Amino acid sequence: MRVLLCGRFGAEEELRWRAALAQACPEVTWVTADAPRAAVDAAVVANPPPGALSGWCGLKLIQSLWAGVDRLLEDPELPEGVPIARMVDPAMTAAMAETALWATLALQRGFFTYARQQRLSQWRVQAQRRAGEFPILVLGLGEMGSATAERLAAQGYPVTAWHSSDARAGRRAPRGVVATAGRAALQVALGRAQAVVNLLPLTPSTSGLLDRRFFAALPPDAGIVNLARGAHLVEGDLLEALDSGAVGHAVLDVFHVEPLPADHPFWSHPRVTLLPHAAALTDPRSAAVVVADNLRRLRAGEPLLHVVDRRRGY
Ligand code: GLV
Repeated sequence: MRVLLCGRFGAEEELRWRAALAQACPEVTWVTADAPRAAVDAAVVANPPPGALSGWCGLKLIQSLWAGVDRLLEDPELPEGVPIARMVDPAMTAAMAETALWATLALQRGFFTYARQQRLSQWRVQAQRRAGEFPILVLGLGEMGSATAERLAAQGYPVTAWHSSDARAGRRAPRGVVATAGRAALQVALGRAQAVVNLLPLTPSTSGLLDRRFFAALPPDAGIVNLARGAHLVEGDLLEALDSGAVGHAVLDVFHVEPLPADHPFWSHPRVTLLPHAAALTDPRSAAVVVADNLRRLRAGEPLLHVVDRRRGY
């Protein structure tokens, strides 16, 4: 089986991927973009530039190394009719839950406030809230949303997990979590949330969800943790909400433009904590095993795992 590996990797990162994939898939011949296109059976891609998959007419699977496939699906030259599988990497899912836990703990216990005070040489003790008094709303009930909600609930937070579609209303909630769905339920959940952790897929219906109206529905001083996509958030509305006190602090991992431009107001905002799209990285050691499983399934004619519904967008 001949498989194309393509994406926007740094040189070292590409070497790590090639080594992990070669080890997990010894029967695969890995090819590069100059290979004869018709003889290639599958493509393993990491956020490739638009048009990168055009003309590869033998493809029977496009396996993403990214969990979110929104950028891939935007490519007008994406070959039609080829199944696309997104990455569900257990190490990445665990890392995401850890980042959400760190952000939530720091919001609950005022650690971001202490960091701000330190820069001002201020010695001021904040109220010590209990986890049980700090309701969290997790947006998204997919792999990452469910795992994160469960992890936060295990830590003692009252957790509601919200899904954007009413169709998922009956979906089984993770242990200790209240699952809810639809726009009306969102308003109710926002009214109670001390912090919101966003882990939604980016689709036309979730783009721009975190806007002025959304922030206005929160109790004053709530925390926003955006770990999904920059386009979920209306950045100007968040800045306004931070400045008016409607939002107390924001932890942001993703942005409309990445890398975040040096003159962006988020960099120096005292109520923003930034990560460089690093809340959870795909781990080649475990992700290569997931890729190998799907390539084996393809060869054996078995059902593929984590296939995306192109119309739905995830
Ligand atoms: C990262 O944002 C990913 O989708 O894997």
